[in-house]
Amino acid sequence: MKTIVFASANVHKLEEIRAMLPEFITLMSSAEVGFHEDVEETGDTFEENAELKAEALYNFTGKPCFADDSGLEVKALKKQPGVKSARYAGEPVNHQKNTELLLKNLEGKSDRSARFVTLICLKTADKTLFFEGEVKGSIAEAPRGDKGFGYDPIFIPEGHTRTFAEMSAEEKNAISHRKNAVAKLLDFVPYI
Ligand code: IMP
Repeated sequence: MKTIVFASANVHKLEEIRAMLPEFITLMSSAEVGFHEDVEETGDTFEENAELKAEALYNFTGKPCFADDSGLEVKALKKQPGVKSARYAGEPVNHQKNTELLLKNLEGKSDRSARFVTLICLKTADKTLFFEGEVKGSIAEAPRGDKGFGYDPIFIPEGHTRTFAEMSAEEKNAISHRKNAVAKLLDFVPYI
């Protein structure tokens, strides 16, 4: 058996990844290994933030660890909100205010293309590796749907007409940026 530790307290994310893992890998959360530090995301990129979190956890556990960082990049807004996605409209985190601000900033712009991106950083004794997942799409004119979280009500994935917030969790998780990044990580897991 091999153990790998995920720098997240999000039970939902953890269960989703556990279900995708081969039997010989045990996935533990940072809480399960006794790591309760709230690592500050001071990086300018998703890579930097994911690495900060993975490194802090690796230094604590000495076991293979990974962390993720995600956000929304909007082409006409020069890839904003990007790493600032959670706090686009300021503190404290408010998803509704974030989407309202984004729609306001996109007013009058014809290019509404965007992508969700997830960067996973994996730290082992001798390696630091990155796995990127994305889902391309566009920003809706107004919010639609009540499922999901964050920018889901205004994000329409490419090839679809509904927003992420109008899809079931299963539908979204099958095509999401997180799913695509995790799939790449899992391809590598047997070699850890
Ligand atoms: P995190 O790094 O996964 O915590 O994501 C940071 C922020 O990006 C979230 O607070 C949301 O604003 C946005 N975000 C990331 N993934 C999603 C998603 O799947 N749907 C909607 N918003 C997301």
